[in-house]
Amino acid sequence: MSIIISIMCISLIIISPSSATSTKLVCHMTNWAQYRPASGKFTADHIDPFLCTHVVYALATINSFNQLIPTEWNDEDQYKMLNNLKDINPLLKTLLSVGGSTNGISPFIGMVSKPENRAVFMKSAISFLRKNNFDGLNLDWEFPGQSGSMGSDKDRFSDLVAELDEAFVQEAKDTRKTQLLLTANVAAFLPIINRAYDVPKIAPHLDFINVMTYDYHGHWEARTSHNSPLFKSSIDSGSQLQHNINSSISHWLSLGAPADKLLLGFSTYGRTYSLRGSDSTLGALSTGAGEAGPYTRTAGLWSYYEVCSFINGASVHWIPEQKVPYATNGVVWVGYDNVQSFAAKVEWMNTKSLGGAHVWTLDLDDFSGVFCSEGAYPLVTNLRNSMGFPPKPTAPPRPTTTKDPIVSFCAGRPDGLYENVADKTTYLQCFNGITYVQRCQPGLIYYDACKCCNYP
Ligand SMILES: *[C@@H]1O[C@H](CO)[C@@H](O)[C@H](O)[C@H]1NC(C)=O
Repeated sequence: MSIIISIMCISLIIISPSSATSTKLVCHMTNWAQYRPASGKFTADHIDPFLCTHVVYALATINSFNQLIPTEWNDEDQYKMLNNLKDINPLLKTLLSVGGSTNGISPFIGMVSKPENRAVFMKSAISFLRKNNFDGLNLDWEFPGQSGSMGSDKDRFSDLVAELDEAFVQEAKDTRKTQLLLTANVAAFLPIINRAYDVPKIAPHLDFINVMTYDYHGHWEARTSHNSPLFKSSIDSGSQLQHNINSSISHWLSLGAPADKLLLGFSTYGRTYSLRGSDSTLGALSTGAGEAGPYTRTAGLWSYYEVCSFINGASVHWIPEQKVPYATNGVVWVGYDNVQSFAAKVEWMNTKSLGGAHVWTLDLDDFSGVFCSEGAYPLVTNLRNSMGFPPKPTAPPRPTTTKDPIVSFCAGRPDGLYENVADKTTYLQCFNGITYVQRCQPGLIYYDACKCCNYP
């Protein structure tokens, strides 16, 4: 028994984070990354099941009958790929994000407009999430009170969030399943925050709030500036003084958002400009977007793996007052994030006791490691490490004896979950022939029929 306990402790330490407050590392993936060519192509089976605590699948939408529906022909195959990762890491949580727009109009506008529309949406969302084995929903309305949405949608959004929470609580009671998580991606610009959210009304109902602390600056402006700076720059003026992480998060906190529910947004991409003249500093005049990258094929934006191919040979600079880098070569200027800027943001995030980080996106990091020679997922891996998560379980826990039946249980067995006949409050997880003893949440026991923990 003592051996079992010691192995159990090892595996629990390996998988659960040690830091008291920043316990979440939420990673987004997009279902359009599958269309990037060659080594840029990304599907859910590229995800490392131990890298993030939560993965958010973007994007689902809402049809004209107010039902949650997929957006891609193969979404249900990718849902399976994603949710099968939970057989390898049972602590991984997955969420489906709903949002987008049709002709610039958010599908939320019509859905929230009437209580009966919201009721249809909630019912369809719950059954769709359960059918596809997701653990929760991510609301990505950009934004209430913006782009064709009326000022009154601020209250409609509060209604939606409160009603969804109530519906999720009730469904969990009725089905005795773990309650679905409810989360939202929210604005970082102060005027939009003020128009879109009644923070004291929505915050209690959300499990966590992803503040989209990126896209502060880009080629739509006349001068070069950084995509996701931590602080204001001395060349900022007017409303630009608020276009930084510190201003956004301070504002969310001042409106009453609990720090431990706010997640800081980390971008695994940079924003590019074409320089107008010979000035290539921060604030240099620009003629517009830099050329599209060969993989992301979007003018003005480069994935980290496209940036790292560029910086080899470019002139790289650090902006000390904003704690982020930029690189320039010829007429090209790119403001991006790297391991150092992520570490600076984590340090700042810890001083604010935020709930953790969310990353846009896994598919824009060097997910395979083939481009940057820094290993797979260099940015997210470093983020995970600087947040104080323990190393991922790639090396086997060192058993004290190899004769123990539990330790050798997985030798020669397929990956997956198995019953521990000696203790039903735990179960055995096999991964690459290694045995991990996992414990159900208090009060639950393991059932092999559903490969899950449930009430006795
Ligand atoms: C961070 O934001 C707060 C609140 O707006 C402000 O008082 C403080 O000066 C900012 N810090 C820096 C370094 O810009």
